[in-house]
Amino acid sequence: MTNSFDQVLNRKNTQSVKWDFNKAVYGTDDVLPMWVADMDFKPPQKVLDVLSERIQHGIFGYTSPTTDTYKSVCRWLHKRHGFSVDASSLIYSPGIVFAISMAVQAFTNEGEQIVIQPPVYTPFFNMIQQNNRKLVENPLILENGQYKMDFADLEEKFAQGAKMMILCSPHNPAGRVWTKQELQKVADLCVQYNVILLSDEIHSDLVYKPNKHIPIASLSEETANLTITCVAPSKTFNLAGLQASAIVIPNKSLRLKYQETQRKQGAGGLNTFGIIALQAAYNYGEEWLEELLPYLKENINTVHEFIQKEIPDIELIYPEGTYLAWIDCRRTGFSDEELKERLLHKGHLALEPGPKYGTQGEGFVRMNLGCSKETVLEGLKRLKIALSK
Ligand SMILES: Cc1ncc(COP(=O)(O)O)c(C=O)c1O
Repeated sequence: MTNSFDQVLNRKNTQSVKWDFNKAVYGTDDVLPMWVADMDFKPPQKVLDVLSERIQHGIFGYTSPTTDTYKSVCRWLHKRHGFSVDASSLIYSPGIVFAISMAVQAFTNEGEQIVIQPPVYTPFFNMIQQNNRKLVENPLILENGQYKMDFADLEEKFAQGAKMMILCSPHNPAGRVWTKQELQKVADLCVQYNVILLSDEIHSDLVYKPNKHIPIASLSEETANLTITCVAPSKTFNLAGLQASAIVIPNKSLRLKYQETQRKQGAGGLNTFGIIALQAAYNYGEEWLEELLPYLKENINTVHEFIQKEIPDIELIYPEGTYLAWIDCRRTGFSDEELKERLLHKGHLALEPGPKYGTQGEGFVRMNLGCSKETVLEGLKRLKIALSK
C-alpha cells in the first residue's frame, strides 16, 4: 500500500533548521538529518488549503484568534483527551518554550527551586537557569528497558522547598506516556506541597494504543487549580514554524498573573498563519492524524527490529508516544565524543546527542522518526556503519 507519508520530499533550501543548518550545528552538511523534532511530512491538505486561500487574499494586517479558534482548541482537547476546558481558561502563546519561560517568571522568584525529570527536553534546563531559578533534578529511573518516576526522591525535593515542577507528558526523550496512577501521584504531591505544576503536553496527540494520554489537569479540580497545561498543533500536525500554541490555566489568579507577565514582555498575539492553521488542523486534521499514527508506529517497529538484529550492542527504549527514538548506546563502550564523531563522519548521520538532555543522557542518542520509511531505513544503515568496529 502506498501512503503519502512514503513520499520523500526535498526540504533543502527552505530555511529548515533540520535540513539547512547542519553545518552550523554539526560542522558538516554531509549528513542525513534525524535530529530536531519536526517531521518531513506536509500537514493535512485542509491546512494547506486555508493557508493558500489566505495568501491569495493577500492582506496580512493584525489578526487575532476568534471564538472559532477557542472552540476548535476546546473541542479537540475534549474529543481526543476527554479534557473539558472552559474557553476563559485558554491563553495563546507563540511557542511552548516561551510559555514555560513566562510561567517560570510569573510563579517563581529568582533563586527559587524548580523540579524537572531528566533526561528531558533541553529548554526545560535553559528556561530555569536563564531566568536565574534553581534547577532541581528528580531523575527518571531506567529499569528493564523502561523509564519510571522516582516518587520518594520527588517528595524529598518538594519537601526541600520546590515552588514549581515542569512535567513532560508524554515524555521527551524517554517516550513514556504516564499512566493515571503515575500522574495521580505527581498531582497528589503537588497538592500536598503546594507546588505549581507546568505540564508540557505538546506530544499528547502522538500516542500509540493501548497507551492513552491523560491531561494531568483533568484528574481533579484540585489538580487543575495548580496546573498550567501547554498544548499545540505544532508536533501533531508538523506546524512548528507557524508558532501557535495554547496554554490552559483554569485558576483565575494564576491566569491573571501569567497574562500580566506575558503582557510585560510586549508579546503580541499569534501570527495570521498560525491562527488559521491551528484552527484548520484541530477542526479537520483528525483523519490525517489517524493515518499518521500507525505510520509512525511502523517506523518505530522498523527501528526496533533492525537494532535487535543488526546492532545488538545498542537498545531502543521502546516509546509509548512521540516519534522520537531514545537509543541506549552505552554497551558499545564509545564515549559521547566518539559517538558523535562516528555518527557524523563515519555514518554521515545527524542525531541528537544524549547529554543534551542532562547527564542522565550520556551514552544515548535520540533519533527522529517523523519521516518516510525510506529515510528511516537509510538512517539505520548509516547508524550501523557509524557504530561498526
Ligand atoms: C517537550 C517539548 N516541549 C516544547 C517543545 C517546543 O515547543 P515550541 O516550539 O512550541 O517552543 C518541544 C519540541 O521538541 C518539546 O519536545
